[in-house]
Amino acid sequence: MGRTAIVTGGTRGIGAAISKALKEAGHQVAANYAGNEEKANAFREETGISVFKWDVSEEAACREGIAAVEEELGPVEILVNNAGITRDAMFHKLSGEAWRAVIDTNLGSLFNMCRPVWDGMRERGFGRIVNISSINGQKGQMGQVNYSAAKAGEIGFTRALALEGARKGITVNAICPGYIATEMVTAMPQEVLDKHILPQIPVGRLGEPEEIARAVVFLVADEAGFVTGSTLSANGGQYMG
Ligand code: CAA
Repeated sequence: MGRTAIVTGGTRGIGAAISKALKEAGHQVAANYAGNEEKANAFREETGISVFKWDVSEEAACREGIAAVEEELGPVEILVNNAGITRDAMFHKLSGEAWRAVIDTNLGSLFNMCRPVWDGMRERGFGRIVNISSINGQKGQMGQVNYSAAKAGEIGFTRALALEGARKGITVNAICPGYIATEMVTAMPQEVLDKHILPQIPVGRLGEPEEIARAVVFLVADEAGFVTGSTLSANGGQYMG
């Protein structure tokens, strides 16, 4: 059965692969984006998926954006919190601005997005929430105190909310991707990637966005109602915590 889904950061990188996979699975998808209008329009033309612009770090913008999606596609039954940013710096060089930007966008957005859809999911007795965390929230990463803190916070958020949703037919799960071949990863210094990251990935390559999208499709299925509060690692064997 097709359901209404929102994918934040859904027009690029891992999010674009998730939006496409959910559409292919028969769902009505709204892909949210924050800034890159050109990429978002190209994505809409290529896929036929509706795109909606708002900043997930802003509470009021999320409320309004979700209302606009619901008006076009109906009540949100699937929410994939995928939007995220990096502002990598060693801690001794990390600014307050870079700390707050990452915490607000990557972790604050979970509150901003989940809160407006939660009451409806409870009333209807069905919901699927998937939070895209990261291997670096599980193990920590040099140069990513802000990002690792936000991503670890996403896992705690997932577990607590899963407990609250359990009796209401709402599942809340996290996926922790490892290093995936997207702009976020290719923006890293090539030397760091070659010297410190790639040698640590047992499968010997970066992951593909579609390899994360498969996991999302699994978790949001009607048949996945017994899987909640889980953290699914997809990292090529890099971390098995
Ligand atoms: N492991 C071990 N050593 C590392 C390292 C690592 N992962 N990263 C950096 N270092 C070392 C460097 O080799 C360097 O050592 P020397 O001084 O001996 O040469 C030292 O730490 C300082 O590093 P830089 O010279 O690079 O310092 P910088 O201030 O110029 O840059 C940085 C710091 C911006 C954090 C840069 O190192 C960097 O971008 N690192 C990668 C951080 C990272 O993994 N980001 C993940 C992005 S992708 C993502 O976030 C998606 C996801 O969920 C997985």
